[in-house]
Amino acid sequence: MHLLLKNIRQLWLTETENRLLYKGKEMSEVPFIENAFLYIKDGHFADFGTMDTLTNFPEDTEVIDASGQLVLPAWCDSHTHIVFAASREEEFLYRLQGMTYEEIAEKGGGILNSARKLQTTSENDLFASAWQRLQNVMAMGTGAIEIKSGYGLSVAAELKMLRVIQRLKEKAPIPIKATFLGAHAVPMEYKTRRNEYINLIINEMLPQIASESLADYCDVFCDKGFFTPDETETILEAAWKYGLKPKIHANELAVSGGVQTGVKMNAVSVDHLECITQTEIDCLLASETMPTVLPGTSFFLNIAYSPARKMIENGLPVCIATDYNPGSTPSGNMAFTVALACTQQKLLPQEALAAATLNGAAAMEIAENYGSISIGKVANFILTKKIPSLAYMPYAYGENHIDKVFFSGKLFTKEK
Ligand code: NIG
Ligand code: FE
Repeated sequence: MHLLLKNIRQLWLTETENRLLYKGKEMSEVPFIENAFLYIKDGHFADFGTMDTLTNFPEDTEVIDASGQLVLPAWCDSHTHIVFAASREEEFLYRLQGMTYEEIAEKGGGILNSARKLQTTSENDLFASAWQRLQNVMAMGTGAIEIKSGYGLSVAAELKMLRVIQRLKEKAPIPIKATFLGAHAVPMEYKTRRNEYINLIINEMLPQIASESLADYCDVFCDKGFFTPDETETILEAAWKYGLKPKIHANELAVSGGVQTGVKMNAVSVDHLECITQTEIDCLLASETMPTVLPGTSFFLNIAYSPARKMIENGLPVCIATDYNPGSTPSGNMAFTVALACTQQKLLPQEALAAATLNGAAAMEIAENYGSISIGKVANFILTKKIPSLAYMPYAYGENHIDKVFFSGKLFTKEK
């Protein structure tokens, strides 16, 4: 099967130098080609260039005339919680009436509310609703995704969530990374004996998850009111013994020491970073850990945005993800998240694109095969409607600019 897109107005992120992430100034200099062609063979990018360099192609090639349209790598969303039992719009209403996210959490709402609902929902029902959400975000251009557990908070329910993610991996046409987030919150019944819950994570959850190969990473919500840096370290050390690398929630609610803990524990990424100072930036600069920002969370919770512009000026890479979850970010729309990164965090459209594609792939350790239009990579890409430029996407932020989405070179359509 061969596919040729011709007359593409702009073909974005045509990476030829084998870069596995963009950082600092490189993020504003990502390559693109105007009036381009893109050739796909056996599900992989096989050739691209300007139209005047297009030579003969095999007869059985399907040809798409992409005049006036843009082609981008599919989004790589490296931070989501799309397995959940129910929405939480009642908490949204409480917040509109003045309660804070933390106050709701302290009263047993928030993550604990989701956990109660998930514990009484069957694996099949959880799978069905998560599969719908996954299809919806794929239709919006997400071509690789990370999904966390963390609404189980008991051995059985955490395993149930991870089995749902395992089934999503088997069914989806895109790569999925599974992250174990047993340390998302301390369950009510362990409130006065939190060490026992941490021991449960270490002595019961982790061994079972590892024996069934149900997770790729281990996450901890290392923040004020949740898990301390010391507790985080203990959990991550145990996870490392099973080969689960850390990808953690850090510095959302306070300058909590989460970034330093993540870097110390060799985390693949530290995510959120709404509350960071130059000290955390310097710490990240001396590391391989990917700083991941989640502007959708700031938008929905009405909290400060992570200083992504400053991080880039300091030479860091920045990754953008949605944080799709029922509490703080009930949206998996990467295009909107990119628009927020531009309007609220002052990223240029090409910087936000780099952050939402190749850097997202790097934050899932799949940048060798995904995240840019590079020869040999898997052909997961977005074909936009007819639009004038890349900047038009975050500019006209309320419109859907996507015409078609392809995974492994095949047109994606949702199941009926
Ligand atoms: O990433 N910050 C921690 N966890 C999620 C929110 C979970 C929830 O409210 O259900 C987040 O924002
Ligand atoms: Fe999250």
